Amino acid sequence: INQGNGVKGLSELGLKALPKQYIQPLEERMCMTNIVPQGSIPIIDMSNWEDPKVAKSICDAASEWGFFQIVNHDVPIEVLENVKDATYNFFMMPAEVKNKYSKEHSSSNNVRFGTSFTPQAEKALEWKDYLSLFYISEEEASSLWPSVCREQVLDYMKKSEVVIKQLLQVLMKGLNVNEIDEAKESLLMGSMRTNLNYYPKCPNPELTVGVGRHSDVSTLTILLQDEIGGLFVRGNQGDDWIHVPPITGSLVINVGDALQIMSNGRYRSVEHRVVANGSKNRISVPIFVNPRPVDMIGPLPELVAIGEKPIYKQVLYSDYVKHFFRNGVRGLSELGLKA
Ligand code: SIN
Ligand code: FE2
Repeated sequence: INQGNGVKGLSELGLKALPKQYIQPLEERMCMTNIVPQGSIPIIDMSNWEDPKVAKSICDAASEWGFFQIVNHDVPIEVLENVKDATYNFFMMPAEVKNKYSKEHSSSNNVRFGTSFTPQAEKALEWKDYLSLFYISEEEASSLWPSVCREQVLDYMKKSEVVIKQLLQVLMKGLNVNEIDEAKESLLMGSMRTNLNYYPKCPNPELTVGVGRHSDVSTLTILLQDEIGGLFVRGNQGDDWIHVPPITGSLVINVGDALQIMSNGRYRSVEHRVVANGSKNRISVPIFVNPRPVDMIGPLPELVAIGEKPIYKQVLYSDYVKHFFRNGVRGLSELGLKA
């Protein structure tokens, strides 16, 4: 039935009803009553990012919301448009080409075409296909990444590095960490992964999800979304979910679990989810800025030195990520990492 073309293949069969593996339990589905129409995450103009007022608004957004959008950053709009086009072009390729990158066929763990978030842990499947690209070097990318999107993704990652460094510098300064030396830079952004996400239109969007609620395991995530919308962030009133409206040229930034741990809980890694859409296909392109798998992460020594009591234990980053995917854990609080 699937014909090896992922959820996109299913969507294109023109099914009248959602296949039952995709029906999510009630608590995973989004109800309209959960949506708070008046809430909205901050929008930050990065053109004066060093201005203390702007810097404060970034740190406040990271601690209160865990999410914000940035405009007037230095990533050229063409670079963003090109990577969106490249994402479409990848998913439009025939199933047999995409399947060269599936778990069964890919020659490397660093390139993965797949469907659903953590299939082995999931009760029900998510209505989504993706291509995940872990960056090692330009050389490896040239030999392993699909040529239809390689240059565009590399350019997007490279051009985003400036704003990633600006954000990390501001966020560290907000913790009184005034210098990011080589070791700290490696801890904060020593490895990077870009995902190309494709959410096909869905026959019964209310019964399933694009991505179920989760927090990211990253330090920071930089997300490019198209004009369709559908990303929701958990607000601070319990079960309220706030839409992240698409803004042309903007990037969505969120704090991940690694930064929540390193900041000793000052910056929050907040749950988010994506709804399925009944009439339109949606794409998004997150860059996950991560510690290296071999790094030990824990509350930064600078915070402990000024007398803060560490609220998390030290953990090997790769163990943290493994734990997350093995158990399908949704959110840091469930991990038993509290010191
Ligand atoms: C995700 O958080 O996994 C995806 C976000 C998005 O597609 O907007
Ligand atoms: Fe996410």
